[in-house]
Amino acid sequence: MQDTVNNALWLAAKQAAYSVAPAPYTAPRGREVVVRTRAVAINAFDRHLQTIGSLACPWLTYPMVVGHDLAGDVVEVGEAVTRFRPGDRVLGLAAGVDKGRNRAAEGAFQHYVVLLEHMMTPLPAELSYTQASVLPLGLSTAACALFQDDFLALAPPRLQRQLRGETVIVWGGSTSVGANAIQLAAAAGYDVLTTCSPANFEFVRALGARQAFDYRSASVVADLVGALRQSRCAGAVAIGPGAASACLDLVAAAGGARTVAVVTPPATFDGIPAGRGRLRKLLPILLDNATGLLKLTWRARRRGVATPFVWGTSLIHNRVGPLIFQDYLPEALARGAFKPAPPCQVAGHGLEAIPGTMAMHAAGVSAAKLVVTL
Ligand SMILES: NC(=O)c1ccc[n+]([C@@H]2O[C@H](COP(=O)([O-])OP(=O)(O)OC[C@H]3O[C@@H](n4cnc5c(N)ncnc54)[C@H](OP(=O)(O)O)[C@@H]3O)[C@@H](O)[C@H]2O)c1
Repeated sequence: MQDTVNNALWLAAKQAAYSVAPAPYTAPRGREVVVRTRAVAINAFDRHLQTIGSLACPWLTYPMVVGHDLAGDVVEVGEAVTRFRPGDRVLGLAAGVDKGRNRAAEGAFQHYVVLLEHMMTPLPAELSYTQASVLPLGLSTAACALFQDDFLALAPPRLQRQLRGETVIVWGGSTSVGANAIQLAAAAGYDVLTTCSPANFEFVRALGARQAFDYRSASVVADLVGALRQSRCAGAVAIGPGAASACLDLVAAAGGARTVAVVTPPATFDGIPAGRGRLRKLLPILLDNATGLLKLTWRARRRGVATPFVWGTSLIHNRVGPLIFQDYLPEALARGAFKPAPPCQVAGHGLEAIPGTMAMHAAGVSAAKLVVTL
């Protein structure tokens, strides 16, 4: 495969403009697999890497290829790979931005990507690349929050649900992370209460939530505390602006497990330009973020609640990655027990279409995942 022509969407330097250019083909080593990308999905974090990548991930080396979500075809496997062979259709989490990987060859936004065998899942015949590409980072982030030891540390998801008689709160259930968290927590045997806009109540119930509440309602925390009277609270996953603070009030009032897995930072990093005017926009947001974190930590300590911040790729390095991508998801997808959600919305074709699709994502999505075919 040495002569294979690869192309990537490059981030040549910190805050550089994206550019499509040739990239080397990197052969897989050990338990690595090279996949020809057929569909990629867009995450907020992918967008933010251009503007605040050097702050959020100071280890990043440039030129860099970003992107986390992909589905495609296996073209070559490392000598220690046992689960895949060339021609297999797969989805996988691209780990290039993770501190332990930090490698352009492992970013999703290119034609030939190096993936880790234990972070890949085969696709059933009826699942398209575009449908499957919505899963990796949303699923990984949800799994980190729900199953890692220092987070909610829930029992694992199973094909045969074993009811636990406990309830998990997923604040922001119509987000990509939330849609995956609802399904995983339900498969692990927990009752799920969630929040979203009323227009998405049916969507989140279809994924397995028992009841949905409008996060904009003035009484939402009190309503959730009321609904929690029926069973012990096993903790909360806080997704979306304002979620961490609301979930802190909620678990403190509910009794039960006193952990809120925080997915969204206090201040949004949207709207920071990559070029001129960056610092003027960035500084107040950094200040808001630091103040918000201090306030959250202080309030949480006083109430005896743990508020660990989720890093959506940390499962690569622990038992949770293989638990999800290797042990649970293949069979769950094959049986239709786990749905790729939110549904994909194909926004364009080709690496050149990715920056424009990121701009569409910045303008806002509701219960949808923007996807580009390659
Ligand atoms: N820590 C990490 O490693 C990590 C990884 C991935 C994502 N994230 C963060 O997780 C969040 C979700 O990301 P995503 O890609 O899953 O999002 P997404 O799918 O792009 O989010 C869109 C959804 O956000 C919902 N939403 C908007 N404001 C909300 C609020 N105040 N409370 C609850 N939901 C709200 C909307 O719900 P309705 O339309 O129903 O109103 C909409 O469906 C973002 O903040 C992202 O930065 C963090």
